[in-house]
Amino acid sequence: MICYKDLHMTDLDIQSKIEKLREEIRNHNFLYYTKSNPIISDEKYDGLLRELKELESRYPLLMSADSPTQKVGAAPVKGFITVEHAAAMLSLDSALAEVEIREFDKRVKRLLGDGDIEYVAEPKLDGLSVEIVYENGRFVRGSTRGDGYRGEDVTQNLKTIKSLPLLLQKIDGIPQFLAVRGEVMMSITGFDRLNKNLAQNGQAMFANPRNAASGSIRQLDSKITASRPLDIFFYDILFQQGGRQFSGHWEILKTLPQWGLKVNPNIKKCDHIEDAIDFHKNMADERDRLDYEIDGVVIKLNDLVARRQLGTKSRSPRWAIAYKFEPRREKTKLEDIVIQVGRTGALTPVALLRPVDVGGVTISRASLHNMDYICKLGVKIGDKVRVERAGDVIPAVTRVYKKERTGDEKDFSLPDKCPVCNSVVIKTGAYHLCSGGISCPAQLKESIKHYASKNAMDIDGLGTKLVDRLVDEGLIGSVVDLYKLKPEQLKSLEGFAEKSSQKLVSAIEKSKNRPFNRFIYALGIKNVGRHLAEVLAANFSSIDALLKETSKDKLMQINEVGPEVAQCILDFFANDRNLELINKLIAQGVVPEKEDVAIENILAGKRFVFTGTLTKLTRMQAQDAVKKLGGRVASAVSAATDYVVFGDNPGSKLAKAGKLGVSTISEDEFLNLIRWIKGSDITDIRYTLKTIIY
Ligand code: IVH
Repeated sequence: MICYKDLHMTDLDIQSKIEKLREEIRNHNFLYYTKSNPIISDEKYDGLLRELKELESRYPLLMSADSPTQKVGAAPVKGFITVEHAAAMLSLDSALAEVEIREFDKRVKRLLGDGDIEYVAEPKLDGLSVEIVYENGRFVRGSTRGDGYRGEDVTQNLKTIKSLPLLLQKIDGIPQFLAVRGEVMMSITGFDRLNKNLAQNGQAMFANPRNAASGSIRQLDSKITASRPLDIFFYDILFQQGGRQFSGHWEILKTLPQWGLKVNPNIKKCDHIEDAIDFHKNMADERDRLDYEIDGVVIKLNDLVARRQLGTKSRSPRWAIAYKFEPRREKTKLEDIVIQVGRTGALTPVALLRPVDVGGVTISRASLHNMDYICKLGVKIGDKVRVERAGDVIPAVTRVYKKERTGDEKDFSLPDKCPVCNSVVIKTGAYHLCSGGISCPAQLKESIKHYASKNAMDIDGLGTKLVDRLVDEGLIGSVVDLYKLKPEQLKSLEGFAEKSSQKLVSAIEKSKNRPFNRFIYALGIKNVGRHLAEVLAANFSSIDALLKETSKDKLMQINEVGPEVAQCILDFFANDRNLELINKLIAQGVVPEKEDVAIENILAGKRFVFTGTLTKLTRMQAQDAVKKLGGRVASAVSAATDYVVFGDNPGSKLAKAGKLGVSTISEDEFLNLIRWIKGSDITDIRYTLKTIIY
């Protein structure tokens, strides 16, 4: 049993400090996420959150379910329970043509009597519809729409959405019970980033932001949800008890943000239906500029009494209609699948489509990502397929019309040899990878661009177009040739004069002594991004060591390196052409500089006692870490002890700590404590620990 110290007088001060911090952070969350108007810097905000987390970890009794620190996800669940909604979550009738909207208006007028009707028009958000329940301003439950009457209880997952307040703003008029309806969204940029990460880890990707939002909310592990870039917009009160009473929908939309509930900013009060039709036209233009998906406009009657008069049909109300945009999905024929070889050597199957206009853009190619994606779709060459375009997102093949097959369709598979350089193709996860590395001609241009890029060797002035020109003109055939370039050769290029040629050559020269980690990153080893390059640089003393000492065992000892990444690194260095290239770079005078890893004395003066079995580190490692970070380790607890770190089955030391009022922290909290003091993220601290320990 874990003993926590009793609350004394001073703890009441701490309690009020914690409350004050929570209040302050909630207010900044509101200003940042709901109002999009932050008043402090990210660093300051992080500092407040860190302070709160630290206090909550030292005083676990003062933890609260609605603390702003509780947006990180909870333990995984086996499944979701079904909950009943406070009111039916209806769906909407939809229309595609203007004439249908005028008919809707006429119908409303016929039922309510003549005279212009006031409407509210809003974007039809293309996400996942949810019900969120607040009791006395406190978030208690959230569920998916389900069948409209009952949905899945996804409370833990919804809690992780940054723009969803766990406590409403304390202003007059908050109902004792409030069930609101909103749409969980994923931004288009967030969606792109997520898919890229999933692809890099060989995991299945999402076809569009809506599926990504829905998939993220329906995760059994809310920590995964917490890592997804989700947002929420509210657009309706489903049910309320007590609090301010409303007579119009516009008034509701203006009040929800005051309570802390984010409403989409593109809303319009319309004096008559023409305004709503104009709004639809404007939003159709605006659509491509938004970083989230909308698929139409919802037109709703403003007057809530009139709404009641009109009533609802079985599943949709008579007082609202969805005026949809032309779909950005079309059917076309997949004529062939070609293979593209990217910088990292990934063989990407690309669909060649019979050109089709999808929402004003002609689409003739779409990435099929990898073999898993092809298998999941079950697509064959010659199939009729659905092509979708989301915002500016690259078009995707999302469906196969199997019933329309003629029998002439052909299966597709990726080859065993790279179609460009004939190197062996290695399958890693869902990916097929050309083992040719940066010596594969198809990867050449991309790899030179990567080598010269800002975060790699940072060769000023050597951008995409220039690399293409240098390769096309035959001036360079590898990154090694960059170092052989003479100003005279460059002068022959159009647009290059004496000065610009000299400038480029000296920028290339300057890149010879970049830090070791940048050099590793510049090599473009698959799955080795900037962070892993830093980790490798810290674990190998030089290029020579990297070339000679890289073994599976050695790599697997490094915390951040999993078996897949280790294999990529080994494959890279097993390729003679890559080794030759590195040796040639060295011969050209490329000597990356090794930077010392600065280890701060972050635990200076702190005394630690350990009890119980640790699971992430051995006792020895944890104790070493404390010592190397400037702290001291004792075997017995006394009043001078700062922290007792407890693992599984802790001994009597924990009880003694409780009696003496010494802070007791779990293994995770121990790792976090170091992180908080250091102010970096957990991977950084593991890396620091690893650096210290080994
Ligand atoms: S109002 C009864 N407003 O569109 C009216 N719905 O079938 C309730 N949606 O799944 C819905 N944006 O979740 C409303 N601004 C908006 C909306 C919206 C998206 C979704 C809704 C539902 C679907 C309509």
